[in-house]
Amino acid sequence: MLKIDQLHVKFGSTEVVRGVSYTVRPGEIVSLLGESGSGKTVSALAPLKLYSKHLATVNADQIVLGDIDLVKVDEKWLNTIRGKRIGMVFQNPGEALSPHMSIKSQFKELSQVHDMKWDLDVVLKVLDEVGLGDDAARVLEMMPYQLSGGQAQRVTIALTLFLSPEIIIADEPTSSIDASLTEVIVTLLLETQKKRNLGLLFITHDFELASRISDRMIILYGGLVMEEGTCDQIFESPKHPYTIELMRCVNALRTKTERLYTLNGYALDPTEFTEACPFAARCPQVEPRCHEGIPELREITATHHVRCVHAGGLT
Ligand SMILES: Nc1ncnc2c1ncn2[C@@H]1O[C@H](COP(=O)(O)OP(=O)(O)O)[C@@H](O)[C@H]1O
Ligand SMILES: [Mg+2]
Repeated sequence: MLKIDQLHVKFGSTEVVRGVSYTVRPGEIVSLLGESGSGKTVSALAPLKLYSKHLATVNADQIVLGDIDLVKVDEKWLNTIRGKRIGMVFQNPGEALSPHMSIKSQFKELSQVHDMKWDLDVVLKVLDEVGLGDDAARVLEMMPYQLSGGQAQRVTIALTLFLSPEIIIADEPTSSIDASLTEVIVTLLLETQKKRNLGLLFITHDFELASRISDRMIILYGGLVMEEGTCDQIFESPKHPYTIELMRCVNALRTKTERLYTLNGYALDPTEFTEACPFAARCPQVEPRCHEGIPELREITATHHVRCVHAGGLT
C-alpha cells in the first residue's frame, strides 16, 4: 500500500501542491483527475523524489510504501524502490526508453541495476503479457525509434512489469499515442492490474475514462484535493462545482445536446494562488465567502470528501 499524507511541494518559493493526501491499496485503481496544471504529476512523482532536490522542496506528514517510510530512506534505497516496488508508465513512451539502446539492452540494463539474474524467458513472458509475444524476437533487436507509438508504450509497460512492482503509477499513459490505441493500452493496463492484483494510480484529465476504470477518484485543482470518493459517489452525487462542471463536459460530448461544452477560463497558475478557493474565479456558484479562505476538505461520508463551502450541509 502507498500512503501519502499532507504532501506539500514547492518549486523555489512557489507552492504547487498544497497538502494532498491519497492512498493506493493492493488491487485498487485510483485515478488522479484534473485539468492540465492542477498538480497531478507533481503529486505522484514528488513523493518518490523524482524532482531534483535543488528544484523541489517536498514536505509530507507521511509517505509510506508498505512498511517503508519514504521520507526517511536515502537516495540509494530509493533507487531500489523506484521501478522495483513502484513501477511508472509515463505519458510519452519515447522519453521513457533510452534512445540509443536496443530494447533487449534496456531489459539487460534493468536487470543489472536491480541485481537480477538475466533470464530471457522472463523477458519473453512479459513481452507476451503486453501483446508482443509474436514479435518478441524482432522487437528485442529493435531501437526505440523503430517502434510505433503503440509498440513503444507496450514495451514501456513490459519494462515496468519485468520488475514485478506492487504499484504502478501511470501518468496519462495514452495521451501521446494515437486515439485508436487508447482503448487497447487501457485494456492492457487493466488486465495486467487485475491479473497481478496491482495497485494502480491512474493519472488523467479524462473524466469519462477515469470514471469508467477506477474504484476511487481524486479530483485535483490548484494543488488541492477538491473532491474524492468512490466512482459511484462521484458519478451519482458529485458535490463540488468543479466536479460538476467536468462532468457536464463529458455529458455534452456524449449526448451532443449541448454545444461542445468546455470549462470557462484557464486553470490558475501556482504563482497566482491566494488564500481563497482556487476555483472561485471560474465557479458558477461563487459567493463572497469563497474568496475569504480555502475551504476545508469536509467529510460527506467516510469515503466521500469535498472542499467547498456549499458542500457538507452548510448552505
Ligand atoms: N520542474 C518544475 N519546476 C517548476 N514548476 C513546475 C515543475 N513541474 C511542474 N511545475 C508546475 O507545477 C504545477 C503542477 O504541475 P503538474 O503536476 O505537472 O500538473 P498536471 O496536473 O498537468 O500533471 C504547474 O503549474 C507546473 O507549471
Ligand atoms: Mg501531468
